[in-house]
Amino acid sequence: MILVTGGAGFIGANFVLDWLATEGTPVVNLDKLTYAGNAGNLESLRNDGRHHFVHADINERERVGALLRQHRPRAIVHFAAESHVDRSIHGPGEFVHTNVVGTLSLLEEARAYWSGLAGAERDRFRFLHVSTDEVYGSLGADDPAFSETTPYAPNSPYAASKAGSDHLVRAYHHTYGLPTVTTNCSNNYGPLQFPEKLIPLMILNALAGKPLPVYGDGKNVRDWLYVGDHCAGIRAALARGRPGETYNIGGNSEKTNLEVVHTLCALLDELQPAGAPHAKLITFVKDRPGHDRRYAINATKIRDELGWGPQERFETGLRRTVRWYLDNKGWTDNVTSGAYRHWIDANYRERGTA
Ligand code: NAD
Ligand code: DAU
Repeated sequence: MILVTGGAGFIGANFVLDWLATEGTPVVNLDKLTYAGNAGNLESLRNDGRHHFVHADINERERVGALLRQHRPRAIVHFAAESHVDRSIHGPGEFVHTNVVGTLSLLEEARAYWSGLAGAERDRFRFLHVSTDEVYGSLGADDPAFSETTPYAPNSPYAASKAGSDHLVRAYHHTYGLPTVTTNCSNNYGPLQFPEKLIPLMILNALAGKPLPVYGDGKNVRDWLYVGDHCAGIRAALARGRPGETYNIGGNSEKTNLEVVHTLCALLDELQPAGAPHAKLITFVKDRPGHDRRYAINATKIRDELGWGPQERFETGLRRTVRWYLDNKGWTDNVTSGAYRHWIDANYRERGTA
């Protein structure tokens, strides 16, 4: 049994599905079901007795403690977070509440539970914290990629809140001996991603014939990691990661935002020719404040120590992703209702494309 937090979100849901298909041991999935959480992501597990969904907040300490005592998981895999940079600029408070205070609550309950374990159960327990490369700040064009020893320099409220959670996790290992492992990964993409993030937003806008809003000059660089590769990296870190260590996970696939959007448009021209050329919809809009210029990941530590590397190439991963969105219109219709439209209005009106 493992306990996953945030397993109804994009990466968490992919992880739960991947875990049950590979490891196969039961999962307790604790999720608050915020706007980003979607029970429909786990519809295929409706009759699977290995999946126990619990609708709760990581800040509900008594419930978390009771779940740990009841299910006695061998690991906690912590995904739950507010995850969208633009939303953190509009309202940072929720990010501190969930990402910092929520992680602290979870650490406290994990510590109490782990302290009560003995022998082999205590030795093998892990608290795996899923974090981001954004904690390292922004790179110049010729800077070396982020390694695990790059100093923290978060630039957005989101990144600062994730950095705070990383520091707490580190402190719980050093101070109390809690066997933690932290992973810092780059931009994920793939099925089930909420369409506030670049790739699904551009796919859905292009299909609807709406503008494709590229921030600033479109030359910001991200490293793109297929979500299935990320799930395999987390499994490796859980199985073989050394307590107290951090591991960077990257896709070895640096692209400018404009390259990503043009590649998407070309795929859509091929798969959905009715709207071609989709690139005519590209619209440059007001930049994100404090917009990090470049992220890049040096993932040699996880490769050398744990034998993990990305398997998916960006071109094939993006094709799979576009096909998934084309084949799952019911899912996208479901998540693009009232609250979603409200966000799109709030974020893009000021940029002139709502
Ligand atoms: P997401 O926004 O899609 O999902 C977050 C999930 O957490 C949702 O299901 C939501 O309901 C749940 N949640 C939020 N607050 C909660 C709370 N207080 N209690 C319980 N559940 C709560 O996020 P994602 O993109 O799947 O990211 C998952 C994790 O990976 C996050 O910690 C994020 O910082 C990290 N990460 C994401 C990326 C990426 O590219 N998406 C990259 C690096 C790291
Ligand atoms: O690097 C890891 C991080 O990647 C994660 O920690 C975050 O949770 C995740 O949201 C992601 O952050 P980004 O800010 O990089 O992702 P986003 O999809 O919001 O934006 C990717 C790039 O695209 C970024 O340079 C901003 C740009 N962008 C984004 C949107 C939504 C646009 O140009 N237009 C847009 O409409």
